[in-house]
Amino acid sequence: MELKGQSAIISGGGSGLGKATAVHLASKGCRVGIIDINETLAKDVAGQISGSWASCDISNAESTEEAFEKIQHEIGPIRIMIACAGVATGAKLISKDGSPNNLEKFKRVIEINLIGTINCMRLAAASMSSLDTVHEGERGIMIGTASAAAFEGQIGQCGYSASKGGIASMTLTLARELAREGIRVNAIAPGLMDTPMTSGLPEPVLESLIAKTLYPKRLGQSEEYAQLVEHICVNRFINGSVIRFDGALRLEPK
Ligand SMILES: NC(=O)c1ccc[n+]([C@@H]2O[C@H](COP(=O)([O-])OP(=O)(O)OC[C@H]3O[C@@H](n4cnc5c(N)ncnc54)[C@H](O)[C@@H]3O)[C@@H](O)[C@H]2O)c1
Repeated sequence: MELKGQSAIISGGGSGLGKATAVHLASKGCRVGIIDINETLAKDVAGQISGSWASCDISNAESTEEAFEKIQHEIGPIRIMIACAGVATGAKLISKDGSPNNLEKFKRVIEINLIGTINCMRLAAASMSSLDTVHEGERGIMIGTASAAAFEGQIGQCGYSASKGGIASMTLTLARELAREGIRVNAIAPGLMDTPMTSGLPEPVLESLIAKTLYPKRLGQSEEYAQLVEHICVNRFINGSVIRFDGALRLEPK
C-alpha cells in the first residue's frame, strides 16, 4: 500500500509508539486520525501534524464507533489502522497475604489491550471492506501491537501477557478471515521501548532489561517502531505475521 494520500487511524496516537507512528505516517503523506483516551495528548499530536483526533476509550464500543465516524468524516475513509493504545498494568494472581488478587485488575488490562484492539479492528475492517481495491486487490492494512510478553511474560504479567498473546494469536486468524477482502493483518511484538510507558520503571529494572537485550544494548526507539510500521504497510507480502522487534531480548521470569 502506497502511503501517500491514504488515511490512517492510530489508536493510542497521543503518546509513545502511536505518536511516533502518527508523525511518521503524516511525514509520508498520510492523513492521520488520532484516537486516545487522553484528549489533551490526542489534540496536541493532531495539531502537530494537521491531523484529526477523537477522544475515546477503545474498550467501549459506542464511543469508539463515534470516534471512527468523526475521524473518517474529517480525513476520509481509512485504509490503514495501527492499534497502539494499551496499558501495562501488572498483578500477581495472589497477593502478598495469600488472598486472591482483585479480578478487575486482570479484566481491565485484557479489556483495553485485547478487546480494545478487536474493537478498533472490527470498525476498521468494516470500513475498509466497502472501499474499492487498489493494487493487487488490496483494500487495507491493520497492525496490532503485541509484546515480547506475549511469548515470555514475566512474573506479575499474567493479564498483560494474556492480552498480548491474544493479539499475537488472532493475527493469522484475522489475516485468513480478511484475505478475501484484500485486508492484511499483522502485529509487531516490541521488546523494551523508550516511551512514557517505560520511563517510570526504576533504573535498576531498566538496566537489567537493557543488559538482556542482545544487540543493540539499548531501548528501542519509537521512530524505529514507526519505520517498521511503514515497511509493513508498503510491503504487500507481509501478512498474518507477528514480527518480534526487540534487539533479540528474551525476557526472564523477573
Ligand atoms: N513501551 C514498551 O516497552 C512496550 C513494549 C511492548 C509493547 N508495548 C505496547 O505498545 C503499545 C504502546 O505503548 P507505549 O509504550 O507507546 O505506551 P504509552 O503509554 O506511551 O502510550 C499508550 C497510549 O494509549 C492510550 N490509551 C491507554 N488506554 C486507552 C484506552 N482505553 N483507550 C484509548 N487510548 C488508551 C494512552 O492514553 C497513551 O496515549 C501498548 O499497547 C504497549 O502495551 C510497549
